[in-house]
Amino acid sequence: MLSGAQPTADSYHLGNYFGAFKQWVALQDEFEAFYFVPDLHAVTVEYDPALLRERTYVAAAQFLAAGVDPDRSALFVQSHVPEHAQLAWVLGGITGFGEASRMTQFKDKSVKGGQDLSSVGLFTYPILMAADILLYQADKVPVGEDQRQHVELTRNLAQRFNHRFGETFTVPEPHIVKATAKIYDLQDPTSKMSGSNQSHAGVVDLTDTPKQVAKKLRSAVTDSGTEIAFDPVAKPGISNLLSIYSALTGDPVETVVAEFEGRQYGHLKVALGDLLAEFVGAFGDRTRELLDDRGELDRILAQGATQAREVAATTLDLVYERSGFVRGIRP
Ligand code: TRP
Repeated sequence: MLSGAQPTADSYHLGNYFGAFKQWVALQDEFEAFYFVPDLHAVTVEYDPALLRERTYVAAAQFLAAGVDPDRSALFVQSHVPEHAQLAWVLGGITGFGEASRMTQFKDKSVKGGQDLSSVGLFTYPILMAADILLYQADKVPVGEDQRQHVELTRNLAQRFNHRFGETFTVPEPHIVKATAKIYDLQDPTSKMSGSNQSHAGVVDLTDTPKQVAKKLRSAVTDSGTEIAFDPVAKPGISNLLSIYSALTGDPVETVVAEFEGRQYGHLKVALGDLLAEFVGAFGDRTRELLDDRGELDRILAQGATQAREVAATTLDLVYERSGFVRGIRP
C-alpha cells in the first residue's frame, strides 16, 4: 500500500489528519506500507525553494507525529528515489494527450491559475502519480475522492503497459476514505476543510497553538435553531462540530449527540474547543520535537528511501527490460 500528501502548505490540517493520516496509521497493521512526501509534485506550480524544503521536513514530522512508524512502514521523500521520475517518463509515452487532458484536477487548477501560467509539469502530474503507485506494486491506494480519477488513470496505464509489454504492474485499487471522517471548514461548513480555502479562519492547522484553536472554534459558524442534532443538510455547522468531536473521542456521533442533549450550541463549542486545544497542543509538541532534531529526521528519511529504492529499483529494472532499453553494461 502506498500514499502521500502534497507539502503545499506550512502545515497539514485537521481534515488531512482525520481524512488520511489516521487511516494510514491503521493500515500499517494490515499492509506493507509506503508513505512519502511528494516534493516532485510540489514543483509543478510556482513555489519558493527554501519554503519547499522546510515544508517537506514539516510534512515528514507530521506523518510521524500522527503515528506513521518508520520501523514498520517506509517513510520517504519522493525526490530521494529517482525511479519516480524515471518511470514517469516511460509512462508518459503510453499516455494519450486527450486522456491526460480529461483530468478534472488539472482543469480546475489551470482555470484558477490561468491557462498560460499552468506548467507542463502540472499537466503531467497524474502520470508522476501513476509512477509513484506502480513502482511499489501497490494493491491499495488510500486517497480522498478528489484523487480517484488519478488512481483510475493509474489503473489504465498499468493495464495498457501489461498488455503491450507483458505482465509487469499490479493494477491498484483506490481505497476511498469513508465519509465519517470528513471534516468541513469551520467558517463554511458546506465545503471541505482545505489548505487552499480562501480564508484560513475555518481551517485548524496541526501547528496551531491551543489559543489559536480556541479562537477558531469560538468563531465557528453554527446554524439557526438551538437544538444540537446531527443533520448535515439542515445543520451543517453543528453537524461538522459533532463529527470532529466524534473523531477526536472515538465515540459514535449518536453518543455525542446524546451527551449534549438539552444543551446549547455554546456548550458544544466550548467542550470541543477544549478537546481540540489539547489535541493540537500534544500534536504540536511531538512535531516540534521531531523538527528540533534534523539529524534524526534525515536518518529516518534516509532509511525510508533505502527501503523504498529496493522495491522501486526492481520494478524499474523490469520496466526498462520490457521497454526494450539496452541492458548491457551500465555505469
Ligand atoms: N496527489 C496527491 C495529493 O494531492 C498526492 C500524491 C502524489 C499521491 N502521488 C501520490 C497520493 C500517490 C497517493 C498516491 O495529495
